[in-house]
Amino acid sequence: MSPWLAAFGLLLLIPGALGFAILPGESLNHLEITERAILNATVQACRELAKAEGADFTFPTPPFTAMTVAEACGTPKSSKSFRQAITFIILRNIRVDIRHALNASFHFDEEMFFQGRKIITEGIRVIKANNKQDNFEAARQKLGEILHPLQDFYSHSNWVELGNIYPNPNLIRSDTSIGNIAEESRATCRNCDGDDCRNNMLEDIIEEGILTSGYFGLVPIVSTKPKGKCSHGGPVDQTSNTEPKGGINKDTFDSSHGHLHMTAANMAVAATSELLEDIRGAAGIRTFLQMMGISKGSSKALCFVIDTTTSMSDDIDAVQAVTSSIIDSGEGTEDAPSLYILVPFNDPDVGPLVKTTDPNVFKSAINSLSATGGGDIEELSLSGLQLALTSAPSNSEIFLFTDAPAKDKQLKSTVTALIERTQTVVNFMISGSTVLNRKTHSDGELNRISESEAELYRDLAQASGGLAIEVTKSELPVATSIITQSSSSSLVTLLQAARNPGSSNTFSFMVDETIRNPLVYITGRSINFTLTSPYR
Ligand SMILES: *[C@@H]1O[C@H](CO)[C@@H](O)[C@H](O)[C@H]1NC(C)=O
Ligand SMILES: *[C@@H]1O[C@H](CO)[C@@H](O)[C@H](O)[C@H]1NC(C)=O
Ligand SMILES: *[C@@H]1O[C@H](CO)[C@@H](O)[C@H](O)[C@H]1NC(C)=O
Repeated sequence: MSPWLAAFGLLLLIPGALGFAILPGESLNHLEITERAILNATVQACRELAKAEGADFTFPTPPFTAMTVAEACGTPKSSKSFRQAITFIILRNIRVDIRHALNASFHFDEEMFFQGRKIITEGIRVIKANNKQDNFEAARQKLGEILHPLQDFYSHSNWVELGNIYPNPNLIRSDTSIGNIAEESRATCRNCDGDDCRNNMLEDIIEEGILTSGYFGLVPIVSTKPKGKCSHGGPVDQTSNTEPKGGINKDTFDSSHGHLHMTAANMAVAATSELLEDIRGAAGIRTFLQMMGISKGSSKALCFVIDTTTSMSDDIDAVQAVTSSIIDSGEGTEDAPSLYILVPFNDPDVGPLVKTTDPNVFKSAINSLSATGGGDIEELSLSGLQLALTSAPSNSEIFLFTDAPAKDKQLKSTVTALIERTQTVVNFMISGSTVLNRKTHSDGELNRISESEAELYRDLAQASGGLAIEVTKSELPVATSIITQSSSSSLVTLLQAARNPGSSNTFSFMVDETIRNPLVYITGRSINFTLTSPYR
């Protein structure tokens, strides 16, 4: 192993060599700093929102948790997605110590003030742009990445030593002065007094309020620090063995300037809160909360994918009535979708997609659909479904209305993968099967969707935890009301199973005293069934 690799291996074994620690301990690490700030900024956002809506708001008792904050925000069901968002951001923050371990700009080492700020301000631009387009995952990713240098500034620079009691507001702005930055030739440190580094910063630097940060290097020959400059310090930093010896970092209580660790860590929390507030200001409170995984009602979309080819003309009014009742059933409840998506599909066109947060706009878009075109029997149902799946947030619900088999069967594996990745529930409402609805084409051919063709829809429905129901136009409302009940978030699936065609099957499931209002759906053609309970 080359000495360089040996040193690098050592570096990864010693957490905190490059910034606030990344593993838990007595000191505050990047994880805790980020989490505290997010919880704080989110509570503040929810309080503002409640104030704007004239609603009551009660602060949770400290220390805040994702659960108590989600509850205070009036969205206890969001606590899981909030927790996930926090964890995701933290992991992205920590990853900077692995991906950019030796890039001083990402850690505000070596007086890289402009370069460090550039990472932050360009990142802020990216986050704001992503939030505008509801790309919350990309926003969280960039957020984690830029919080790392922002937090490191307070540990690695002498901002705290200079007596500042507030964060540096100019790290999140690109057109301002960061401070009075030391010239390249300006000496900033003297040797520590043995292990005691409390007074190693030169007095004139403090008196003149000159900003500096520590040099860091793993190998003495490669990482020469300029004469007179401070080092990062600690056992891994080889620059701290050359004069001026010792360092200035405040990463932990044991660091060279460990006596200032808590001050630096608290300032990093406040600075992180301010950056989050800046992002909130640009995004608006609701979007900011969505970025954090918190949303009033659910963060899911309600999507309708509707076949508008000619054969649907006698179904389209029923579909319009039914979709309207599905929309109404969710509105105003905790399960209300935050987004509505409509994907009409015809042949050869799919779309245009309509995306709105307003249920009334959504309804009128559906009501303006009319059935024309098509021609052959099979339609582009999977292309329509694919478009809906790629446009909707995770955990959404899709209803697909058609009377035709899929022409684009080759998309099955793509659609299945999308369903799995987005955890979206897809329900197929198939009207016009031969048995139930003897529709004919103009050429006299039955508009039949065969058992094997229905199988494709059933497979996809089952993969998603949804249902594939074949109904007549008159049965559509009944079938729909069953499905809307099943989309309540308090519903759990005890058993979902497909039977082997042509043979009889027995399925059992447990119902204990925690289950209220059990519902059993049996879908398919000419099915005989017996439901028995052994504990009658
Ligand atoms: C450090 O990262 C910045 C921002 O990504 C980049 O512009 C710069 O070239 C990197 N420096 C080194 C030495 O890799
Ligand atoms: C919490 O957030 C508010 C507003 O965003 C900020 O003023 C305050 O300093 C933050 N508190 C901490 C401990 O960071
Ligand atoms: C269902 O039961 C009825 C009456 O017992 C019987 O006539 C019919 O053949 C059964 N259908 C199937 C699919 O088993």
